[in-house]
Amino acid sequence: MTSSLHRETVLDSAVLHVTGAARYIDDLPVPANCLVIVPGLSPVAHGRIKRLDVTAVAAAPGVVRVLSAADIPGRNDVSPVFGDDPAFAEERVHYHGQIIYAVVATSIRAARAAMRAAVLEIEELPAILTIEEALAEGSLLGRPWQIETGNPQAELAASPHQIEGQIEIGGQEHFYLEGQAALAIPGEDDQLTVFVSSQHPTEIQHKVADLLAVPNHSITVEVRRMGGGFGGKESQANQPACIAALAARLTGCPAKLVYDRDDDMRITGKRHDFLIRYQAGFDEEGRLRAVIFDQALRCGMSYDLSKAIAERAALHADNGYAIANMQVTTRLCQTHTPSNTAFRGFGGPQGMLGIEAVIDRIAHQLGRDPLAVRQANFYPDHDSPAAPASTHYGQPVTDGVLRRLTDQLANSADYHARRREIADWNSQHQMVKRGLALTPVKFGISFNKTMLNQGGALVHIYTDGSVHLNHGGTEMGQGLHTKVRQIVAHLFGLPDAMVRVSATSTGKVPNTSATAASSGTDLNGMAAFRAAETIRDRMAEYLAGQWQQPPDKVRFAEGRVHIGPEEMTFAEAASLCWQGRISLSSTGYYATPDIHWDAETGKGQPFYYFAYGAAVSEVVLDLYTGESRMLRTDILHDAGQSINPAIDRGQIEGGFIQGAGWLTCEELVYGKDGRLLTHAPSTYKIPACSDRPLDLRVDLLATEGNLSATIHRSKAVGEPPFMLGMSVFFALSDALAAAGPGYPGLDAPATAERLLNAAMRNR
Ligand code: MTE
Ligand code: MOS
Repeated sequence: MTSSLHRETVLDSAVLHVTGAARYIDDLPVPANCLVIVPGLSPVAHGRIKRLDVTAVAAAPGVVRVLSAADIPGRNDVSPVFGDDPAFAEERVHYHGQIIYAVVATSIRAARAAMRAAVLEIEELPAILTIEEALAEGSLLGRPWQIETGNPQAELAASPHQIEGQIEIGGQEHFYLEGQAALAIPGEDDQLTVFVSSQHPTEIQHKVADLLAVPNHSITVEVRRMGGGFGGKESQANQPACIAALAARLTGCPAKLVYDRDDDMRITGKRHDFLIRYQAGFDEEGRLRAVIFDQALRCGMSYDLSKAIAERAALHADNGYAIANMQVTTRLCQTHTPSNTAFRGFGGPQGMLGIEAVIDRIAHQLGRDPLAVRQANFYPDHDSPAAPASTHYGQPVTDGVLRRLTDQLANSADYHARRREIADWNSQHQMVKRGLALTPVKFGISFNKTMLNQGGALVHIYTDGSVHLNHGGTEMGQGLHTKVRQIVAHLFGLPDAMVRVSATSTGKVPNTSATAASSGTDLNGMAAFRAAETIRDRMAEYLAGQWQQPPDKVRFAEGRVHIGPEEMTFAEAASLCWQGRISLSSTGYYATPDIHWDAETGKGQPFYYFAYGAAVSEVVLDLYTGESRMLRTDILHDAGQSINPAIDRGQIEGGFIQGAGWLTCEELVYGKDGRLLTHAPSTYKIPACSDRPLDLRVDLLATEGNLSATIHRSKAVGEPPFMLGMSVFFALSDALAAAGPGYPGLDAPATAERLLNAAMRNR
């Protein structure tokens, strides 16, 4: 038995997952008097509520209570930051699908039948639905925000070549397999326990407490696991949790709200769609001299997390490229649509797609290989003699690896030979074209908001030597619990099975940040390490004293404790320490050092480090139908000293496919009345197993590890691989370019329809 650190081990819940024994919210056993809740949704995008009469609904069989804004004892708000998201619409509705009331009943069927008797009169008002409409009407949240470095206007004018254009980028539905779900169980006095599928138990605790007008200590929020979150449960689990809590409080019974899939897709916000306009100046080699971006994003009815998302989009407008003169302006468009929210990458993917579109177009204009143009613009590698270049927000890039990484990937994927071979093939095929692209990723790690970069943990050792571990992060399938368990088991020299990670609970580790920004392991892994280290040091000191050895002669390995020449099992050591009245319990805490950020000026050092990767994708495109296939993808990704290469590989494969889905087959379509038309898997198409590249090769970059002092020199890996999906989009652009004379100027997603249109436009 050796430590599992840096090794491939299975997820701690793997057996539970595959046998169906893992419990999600709707699987939890509930008391017999548990009630269920069905929300009543707005049938219009914007309107004034003239009348809501639910008397007949309340009187219907099986209905226990009908809830609306008037029933809330505290604040009618479920928003994460700005106080602008009501649990129930009051006076006005702001999007098609907004929750106006909720029926609490003994069964879903009874609730749905009763809802037909609701009398709802709404005076319809004009609705603003799209980015273009919002820009035309000046419907913005806050003021436009800008980051600037150098002298972009003057340098643009002085550049030998200039381009100007735009790219439209679609949104994305999270499609977590477990929908939004919450179960609230009333306790004695004003206490309440909420079981919820959420990335942010602490925020749920706060929102429920405020809504019910009770102190935070009355509310305990527990999250065992989510069946996927992807950012969609960072803030948007607040609403079902608050409604379930209100129902439980007012009826005195446990109450459960599980969104039906169609409702979930209509109610919840998604990835922001963007319209990015650009101007760029460059030289003969394609070296960027100046870039000006105007980013507009559709936020929906309220802020939700849009301000931070817009910020991250602006901060990633450089991707991996040193651009000395740059200006990025962002506009947050307020529309009568669901409030868009966090989604893997948090605006970063959209910002990066902007600059990649610029590079792709420059390459086309100069008749150069896009890879050569990319390489001409990369930030210097950390070990290069060149001085580190600074980002547009003033953070020097001191840990660059993209030059080495892309060289290595281009070699291993045989990029140059395949490019020639594809050109050859394309010259022999009129109506079917192949395309190839290599795109890089540089993604900043840390929450932009410095305050959020903290983590906490709680570790107990019992006298049989088994370890109970709790930390502030939540498990959504990304393997966080497994990694943190490896870290703690390694520290005590125990097999992983001796350490149990318990459900995340606001009662155990308080005041936590959302599990987001890919920082789960960085923050909570380090906090758990420190908690465990505190106990280990106490044990070592006590045992050393007993055997008259220096404390550094105490070693924990292979399930045993060595004290100089003496040795015993870990269980014996734990028991001895207890008998010696040594505390075997500790908290641990970690705050990321060396980061600061001023959102006013758009300058600072918001990221502790950068995560890097690159992908080469090859596609084939049928110009008769617009259909395409991913043929082969090669990925090289930097996970630092990976804590668990199997989990990281899973994150890389999953992230890549999710990113490719966003840019190819996943399309959100709203009707003219603001209704989401693609509100079910029948009309919204995520990539299926059969859509994956026929040949998918994933490698981790061999490295000494993170240059920053992260937990065991690992790197965050949750979001960065998502953006590897860009390689598929630009491979499609390459295939189109092979077909027609002009630049394809593809918008995202590159659906069959769009590809066909682009091909016809070009002919
Ligand atoms: N992987 C799975 N399987 N399920 C998820 O919901 N969410 C992603 C990523 N990987 C997600 C996932 C997102 S949006 C983030 S921010 C990170 O995981 C969060 O977890 P981490 O900080 O532990 O990486
Ligand atoms: Mo991830 S979008 O930061 O939850």
